[in-house]
Amino acid sequence: MLRHLRGLADAELPAYVYDLAALRRHSRAIRALLPDRVDLFYAAKANSDPRLLHVLGEHVDGFEVASAGELRHVRQLLPKASIAFGGPGKSAVELAQALDEGVERLHLESEHELRILTELVGERTVDVLLRVNLPFSLGQLPLVMGGWPSPFGMDPAHLDGCLRLLATHPRIRLRGIHAHLASGLDAPDQLALVEQVIAWADRWAGEHQLNLSEVNVGGGMGVDYTEPERIFDWSAFGTGLRRVLADHPALTVRIEPGRSISAYCGWYVTQVLDVKRSRGEAFAVLRGGTHHLRTPAAKGHDQPFEIIPSDTWPWPWTRSEAHREPATLVGQLCTPKDVLARQIPVNRLRAGDRVAFAMAGAYAWNISHHGFLMHPEPRFSYLDDERPPTSLAAVEDVRKTTDGAGGRLVRHSC
Ligand SMILES: Cc1ncc(COP(=O)(O)O)c(C=O)c1O
Repeated sequence: MLRHLRGLADAELPAYVYDLAALRRHSRAIRALLPDRVDLFYAAKANSDPRLLHVLGEHVDGFEVASAGELRHVRQLLPKASIAFGGPGKSAVELAQALDEGVERLHLESEHELRILTELVGERTVDVLLRVNLPFSLGQLPLVMGGWPSPFGMDPAHLDGCLRLLATHPRIRLRGIHAHLASGLDAPDQLALVEQVIAWADRWAGEHQLNLSEVNVGGGMGVDYTEPERIFDWSAFGTGLRRVLADHPALTVRIEPGRSISAYCGWYVTQVLDVKRSRGEAFAVLRGGTHHLRTPAAKGHDQPFEIIPSDTWPWPWTRSEAHREPATLVGQLCTPKDVLARQIPVNRLRAGDRVAFAMAGAYAWNISHHGFLMHPEPRFSYLDDERPPTSLAAVEDVRKTTDGAGGRLVRHSC
């Protein structure tokens, strides 16, 4: 991968580069580690790049979409794919589109949504899950969407109203419960949460004499930007799910991860325009910035990166550099929030060098504020050979030939 990034022309930067072979291996491995009665849906909101979706279409059981736009996009690209339609606010137009498109599941977030659906459903049938904000304590996690007052899903107390409506509308078939509560969980915590959700759903179904065939526990499998090699333990999660499902022979568990599937295969590569010093601190100003890669600003982390030294320097004066010191990597925007990584020790980072940010395949380009300052958009390129281009060996190879420029070594291939 880094070899490929070095081979890009300056004029091609900034660029997103997606390693499709790595994505294929990663998604195939995840699917293989999960039991049969776990349906793996990819949350398209994480990255709906068409080439990525095509690769994922070979290995996941379907796609979770959260708007009519995502629904149309996935339908056009993969007409046969199973689609689950969620999202905290759906308009009547969107619900009508979901019915017209024949989505496989509709995740209803309120009684109001269900009421609209009763008006629209007509002679059709639709399978729904009710999204519940379950009263579980989730602790300190990066993104918590439930367990406390939140606009996501409905409180358990509001389910009774939905059941009354469903009883008079048999064409809207309740298949089960949906509970995406948080993002950033490791495998043991995610498994514990699944067990809690299933136990709750069992109890609730028993109290109301319902036959639930499905529990969707959402996504949120952890991705660690500070330790890229510490990936979610899909093997332990799969083993745990197998044990849980053995006690529930009629149940299907659905998961809909996004970040943990596509984060690792994306790179954002750009160039250092200038290295400045302010009050003794080094700042590397890059072409591009958080209007292309908002993830570090949105999540408040340092995006892991690799420095790719470049010997091309077109000017007759000496290049500015940071040398064996911490450097803060910023973009071109007129805001102090345009920071991609803060005070990271580097051996050497010079104006003209390249910086390749790893883990830029999820909630990266598609969540960024592209229009701010009207800089050019990045280019997109795709690698698709079956060799492991981001393997440790490849990274070490490049390091040996780059006089140890430093930065963060990303020892992970997805
Ligand atoms: C309902 C729902 N499902 C799945 C996801 C995907 O979460 P992640 O990308 O953390 O796996 C999200 C993310 O916000 C979500 O809201």
